[in-house]
Amino acid sequence: MSEFAVELQDVIKQFPTPEGGQVFAVNHVSMQIKNGEFFSMLGSSGCGKTTSLRMIAGFEWPTEGEVVIAGTPQGHTPPFKRPVNTVFQSYALFQHMTVFQNVAFGLEMDHVAKSEVNDRVGKSLDMVQLSGMGKRFPKQLSGGQQQRVALARAIVKTPKVLLLDEPLGALDLKLRKEMQLELKALQQRLGITFVYVTHDQEEALTMSDRIAVMSFGKVLQMGTPVEIYERPNCKFVADFIGTSNFLHGTVKSVENGKASVYIQELDAEVMGLVSGDISVGETAAVSIRPEKIRLSEQSAFNQNCFEGVVSSTTYIGSDTHVYVNVKGNRIKVWEQNKISSLDPKAYYSVGQKVWLTLFPENTLIMADK
Ligand SMILES: Nc1ncnc2c1ncn2[C@@H]1O[C@H](COP(=O)(O)OP(=O)(O)OP(=O)(O)O)[C@@H](O)[C@H]1O
Ligand SMILES: [Mg+2]
Repeated sequence: MSEFAVELQDVIKQFPTPEGGQVFAVNHVSMQIKNGEFFSMLGSSGCGKTTSLRMIAGFEWPTEGEVVIAGTPQGHTPPFKRPVNTVFQSYALFQHMTVFQNVAFGLEMDHVAKSEVNDRVGKSLDMVQLSGMGKRFPKQLSGGQQQRVALARAIVKTPKVLLLDEPLGALDLKLRKEMQLELKALQQRLGITFVYVTHDQEEALTMSDRIAVMSFGKVLQMGTPVEIYERPNCKFVADFIGTSNFLHGTVKSVENGKASVYIQELDAEVMGLVSGDISVGETAAVSIRPEKIRLSEQSAFNQNCFEGVVSSTTYIGSDTHVYVNVKGNRIKVWEQNKISSLDPKAYYSVGQKVWLTLFPENTLIMADK
């Protein structure tokens, strides 16, 4: 048996445009999704997520390259012959059928015996925590419950791989957060491979074992949530996932995974870890997350330490967001409010002179693209 549930091997998908040209919806994408993995494709609108998923499902065929499922190249295999099932954003339940009938539908089409249908539908409804709701009609359910019916309908057929295209997109924020945790728990209970599409970076970080960050039909980086957040391989990924401060300059030296960049605006060299591919003489981005900067009232280090003036502060309860002007650069710093205080002096204030320390081990030097 193949170690991989799904592989995309150098897949290209072109679509003709009405103007007579061609659009590369997916452009040389390779992915290896492991058995039992929760794998997400993450990227902004139009980057090729749905097209990639539809090629795995068999609703589209690659222009070039191959989709391999459980070790078998799929070629032009039609969707119903693939060991996968899809949950779409618009889950389109049959409104005139009960929850039970909706979930049973696919099994009945396959002529599964009635007793087995009862058994499997019951188990699927248990799995999505809808036991006892079988007699209801979709319009008698909340949005989240309807989405769970759609899930039950997909898992009742026991696919090896479940494909999910923004399945929580229609739900409000609070319900979406609940369903994220439920989906992750469900995936772990079932032990099947989930391929999940989202444009929401927080959702991808919360749920995934691994994430592919996509842009313009290409995969920019693939890795665990920790790898993607802590070691983005280019500026685009650092910017797309979470929040970062960026400085730009010229690479002066690269050695043992560390680099130094001259920043003209600061007239200083900044040291950091190499993240991705860079070489001496190139323009690079220096990226540092706002929670990783040390703020202090005095200069503490000679290296990577800069003087600035607080230009604004926002108290948000758990943290205070402090903006510091350093020679015209606006740097965001998130200070955790570890001490409970009502005294305004316990917080940084606008106009105050401060020092920023960018610890080299928390500062990343990466390709400026
Ligand atoms: N059937 C089609 N014919 C022509 N172009 C298409 C077709 N399907 C998708 N595209 C184009 O391919 C690109 C990728 O589309 P896709 O639907 O895969 O994006 P997506 O990442 O799912 O975006 P979203 O987050 O908006 O759903 C887009 O530029 C889109 O306009
Ligand atoms: Mg889409």
